[in-house]
Amino acid sequence: MKPFNIAIDGPAGAGKSTVARRVAEALGFVYVDTGAMYRAVTWNCLERGCDPDEDENVAKLARQCDIRLRPGENGQEVWVNGRNVTEEIRSAEVTSNVSRIAQNREVRELLADMQRRMAAEGGVVMDGRDIGTTVLPDAPVKVFLTASPRARAERRFLELKDKRPSLTVEELEKEIAERDRMDSEREVSPLVQAPDAVRIDSTNLKLEEVIGKILELCRTKVAGE
Ligand code: DC
Repeated sequence: MKPFNIAIDGPAGAGKSTVARRVAEALGFVYVDTGAMYRAVTWNCLERGCDPDEDENVAKLARQCDIRLRPGENGQEVWVNGRNVTEEIRSAEVTSNVSRIAQNREVRELLADMQRRMAAEGGVVMDGRDIGTTVLPDAPVKVFLTASPRARAERRFLELKDKRPSLTVEELEKEIAERDRMDSEREVSPLVQAPDAVRIDSTNLKLEEVIGKILELCRTKVAGE
């Protein structure tokens, strides 16, 4: 069987990264977290004191940014210009600026090209917002993974409560709604379901059930060849 690509898109907190990583492990494919790439560009921009609203400067810095995704002991590591920024890219500051950077047309083109190169040989599970629509429109398996805003906020709360002890589920729900709005309303590659993507609502599903559904889709795809 020729290795194929799997595109998993959806809003923040729907469980894309865990699901994508586990599907990749099950199939022996490579997992690519494209959100981490937008976060890496955002981290670099803030680190260099560049204003996220200055589109040209942001794009210039992004062009100089050498982003590497590497397998590490505790999952995928993210490196920018030789520095391990795996932890830093998850900070509240990066999270609150990343949607602004993700509106930058040049940054999107640059990262989409990198992502296409990563998937050129097939055998990649890629998660993001525009993978099925723009980055890999020919991916044979496309999933749009979603969940209610409340369920997504509750999941993020469990992940973040130790790092940000003052955080409440209500605050997170607001943060998530604002990020959804910016990601869905942006002009370039907004977050929309590809017409040929299979929608999975994970609000009332266990992680294993979501993974099972995607693996089933992959089996159908292979059987259909
Ligand atoms: O998946 P995440 O929360 O780490 O993504 C961070 C941000 O990056 C998110 O607000 C939207 C943006 N993003 C994007 O615009 N396109 C992608 N393919 C992946 C992420």
